[in-house]
Amino acid sequence: MLESLNQIERQALNELEATQDEDSLQRWKVAHLGRNSPLMRVFDQLGALPKEERPTIGRRANEVKRALETAFEGRSQALIQAAVQRSLQAERLDVTLPGRPIARGRLHPNTQTLRRIYRIFGDMGFQVFRSREVETDEYNFELLNIPAHHPARDMWDTFYTTTPGVILRTHTSPGQIHVMRQYAPEPIRVILPGMCYRYEQVSARKDTQFNQVEGLAVGRNITFGDLKGTLTDFARRMFGENVRTRFRASHFPFTEPSAEMDIECFICGGAGCSVCGGSGWLEILGSGMVHPVVLRNGGYDPQIYSGFAFGMGPERITMLKHRIEDIRHLWMNDLRFLEQF
Ligand code: PHE
Repeated sequence: MLESLNQIERQALNELEATQDEDSLQRWKVAHLGRNSPLMRVFDQLGALPKEERPTIGRRANEVKRALETAFEGRSQALIQAAVQRSLQAERLDVTLPGRPIARGRLHPNTQTLRRIYRIFGDMGFQVFRSREVETDEYNFELLNIPAHHPARDMWDTFYTTTPGVILRTHTSPGQIHVMRQYAPEPIRVILPGMCYRYEQVSARKDTQFNQVEGLAVGRNITFGDLKGTLTDFARRMFGENVRTRFRASHFPFTEPSAEMDIECFICGGAGCSVCGGSGWLEILGSGMVHPVVLRNGGYDPQIYSGFAFGMGPERITMLKHRIEDIRHLWMNDLRFLEQF
């Protein structure tokens, strides 16, 4: 009897070694610890044994039972561990791999410049006024004191449409008349941003379409000092606290007197370089006191009212700020260019 218990134990442990998964493990349990297993039959037969053999066989049978149960638990844990290891190997996850970058859009450099301009003038109390891009000859020229055949028209090469008298605006200045006619005789402080069109040879510095931001202030007692102060303050906010500015006498038919504002070339610091053409100064806008004829055309009595106006090219400012050497980059939509901003 003892020998057959040893035999049962050996065989069971051997077969346990061969189990490879949960299924075979359960089958092993039924075969070796189940109700009809050889071991359980030994327990059944204990009662039939001679009295003096019973304790020895019984103790041994219990020992084998505990040994098989412990071995079963061990094997079960080992199989679970092996399964975990296998799945870890199969689905290897490298948490140190860099992530995939998420493609992210950004604002066009022109839009960035425009928004800064809006913000600066907004802080000074200027409202944004949108005017039309398709204009009449009357608004674009006549009402701005530029009669037909006036030599000053040479400054603005024009795109005409097939409708006589209808053109693409060559500058944002016709917006001045629209604003004045809408608000007269109220005081005005507006900027007018938008696209302008000129029939010109495209080059690194000139394109046939571009943005302008016009400015207009009309009221009683507006002086050239207000113009200088406003534009100098604008330059400081746009280009930095220490930027130097200068006003140069100029001529526009719709302003009198007229001036262009230069800022000190921040590339060479005024010493003279290729960007500023050796002068040390960069021109950024045209301006002046609104001409009495224009005020009157807008519905304001020039005896009572005065005003200043200016017009700047945001592309020009963007190019200066970022040292972009060709204006055409701004419209080519080349991602290699745009992603730098
Ligand atoms: N409209 C002018 C231009 O296109 C700029 C300007 C605007 C000048 C307002 C004076 C006053 O060059």
